[in-house]
Amino acid sequence: MSTLAEADFPAGIGMTTTQAPFIEQAQAQGQIYIAQPYSLYSDENHEAWRRLYARMLPQWEKYANEHFLAGIANLCLNPEKVPLLEDVNKFLSPLTGFKAKPVSGYVPAFQFFDCLRNRDFPTTITVRMLDKLDYLPEPDIFHDIAGHVPMHTDKYFADTLVRFGECAHTAAVLAQEIKDKSEQTRKVASIIKAMARFFWFTIEFGLMRDRASGSIKAYGSGLLSSYGELEYSIKSPDVQRYPVQLEWIINQYFEIDHYQPLLFIVDSFDHLFSLVDELELWMKEGKLDNVSPGEPEVNDADLRSFLDAELG
Ligand SMILES: [Fe+2]
Repeated sequence: MSTLAEADFPAGIGMTTTQAPFIEQAQAQGQIYIAQPYSLYSDENHEAWRRLYARMLPQWEKYANEHFLAGIANLCLNPEKVPLLEDVNKFLSPLTGFKAKPVSGYVPAFQFFDCLRNRDFPTTITVRMLDKLDYLPEPDIFHDIAGHVPMHTDKYFADTLVRFGECAHTAAVLAQEIKDKSEQTRKVASIIKAMARFFWFTIEFGLMRDRASGSIKAYGSGLLSSYGELEYSIKSPDVQRYPVQLEWIINQYFEIDHYQPLLFIVDSFDHLFSLVDELELWMKEGKLDNVSPGEPEVNDADLRSFLDAELG
């Protein structure tokens, strides 16, 4: 197997979503965790970052949770250039121990959550196309670094992510104790579905009520990295917003290809942390074994990642 070397690719060749030869080669070689080949970003990639950042900034000031705004200030991101993850980590790690860890794309569910348990955040390093700056279903570096990572500077939010990673560990332990194979598959698929829905309606699309003003603000990264959906999520009368209920979100399907019509509000990150505790308790009690069918579908790689997880 040949190794993957930044120097083997022409400088500025591009690290564009679905059009990055470096990423294609990493995937072909089965390399999930990679180095960020910074010299390969094209002028167009940097221009896409610059435009994304410039148009989001005023939206964040209006609609983002205060902890996100503090995170943006603390990370000292360069508005003009695609971030170098090592630079991001220089500001991030001293605050919460979290690090952005470059990946080539899809990470199987257990490994993804287990990274969180270890305070690593699997980070996409490609940039969306310049002529497609609006929401795209797959993550890119703007979604991951400008949408997720500012939240990771907050101690309580970071601890919640770690707690969620611990839940995945518990799920894998429980899964591997089930002897009957078909029951094992059925229950584990249900637990993964419940966890994916929880993650979606909180970490990706969560809203929080601001204590001082009483107004609703976004802390979910899917909202914070979408120019159109951030304002829509807060302002549109077409969005239903409800106080979060665990039994609801784990049984609620979602679709990724349009603005979310249904969002849930937490009171605080303490509240969110306590919900993750409850999620784990319910998992142990078997209350996640029969969640309602529907999206997201659990693929075989995600299932196997739990069943084959090496549990130290
Ligand atoms: Fe995300």
